[in-house]
Amino acid sequence: MVKKIGRNDPCWCGSGRKYKQCHEAFDERIRRCEDEGHIVPTRDLIKTPAQIEGIRESGKINIAVLDAVAAAIHVGMSTQEIDDIVYQKTTEMGAIPAPLHYEGFPKSVCTSINDEVCHGIPDKDIILQDGDIINVDVSTIYKGYFSDSSRMFCIGNVSEERQRLVRVTKECVEKGLEQVKPWGYLGDMGEAVHNHALENGYSVVADIGGHGVGLQFHEEPFVSYVTARGSEMLMVPGMVFTIEPMVNAGTDEFCEDEENGWTIYTWDGMDSAQWEVTVAVTEDGYEILAY
Ligand code: MF3
Ligand code: CO
Repeated sequence: MVKKIGRNDPCWCGSGRKYKQCHEAFDERIRRCEDEGHIVPTRDLIKTPAQIEGIRESGKINIAVLDAVAAAIHVGMSTQEIDDIVYQKTTEMGAIPAPLHYEGFPKSVCTSINDEVCHGIPDKDIILQDGDIINVDVSTIYKGYFSDSSRMFCIGNVSEERQRLVRVTKECVEKGLEQVKPWGYLGDMGEAVHNHALENGYSVVADIGGHGVGLQFHEEPFVSYVTARGSEMLMVPGMVFTIEPMVNAGTDEFCEDEENGWTIYTWDGMDSAQWEVTVAVTEDGYEILAY
């Protein structure tokens, strides 16, 4: 519920200025886009500068945790050891690993190897092998603010083919980022991601995607990477969401692990890669809050 603000009332963004001198024109512009038939963000999806600062601080920890993993990851390591590093580093910095106990998820981080698309569960018996590619997906809660990012790591001697998948997937995120600007549409970003994957002979998972983030782990909107320019939600300054395409070497179809109820695998057993950033839409483009 958003209360109607008087023109002389303080602006909802916390600037201390009068609404008419602050976000009134901005709100008008959003309403015009809505009248034209576009999907627009509700007010709670538009973070205030103070909230962005909180997410930025959370993101710094998320980055430091991934850096700690990057420094330690090696052939012969178990994914449980990665989980230990994530838990240790996150709590040492005064934060909480968001995945832990999230909807029953048992660990502090997702570790997804080769044909695992996402939501791999760390385990002491899963040992990194020479030639593996692994996604380590870290999410942090700090002072109530959420951040979320993931990276791929190549373990030992990785085939050219796998290295290309990892590289192109990272490029997909970069192509998507280039499209993040105020008054554009999420579909512009999704189309750029999708095109780059397709041009390289890959597919992009359609039914699992990104999300708004910041005050909760997963907020609206669902962020797709198989969308068309000019479609999906309007991007406005203050929105924070993830770009995290899952790019598959083969089919985009997938299946879920029936035993653990979490891990997603490619249907055809071919490789999958993912990189993830948390990004804020700014007045003139974007700011990466976690990568
Ligand atoms: N980090 C994932 C994302 O990018 C979500 C993982 S949910 C978990 O949205 F419970 F598996 F951790
Ligand atoms: Co995410």
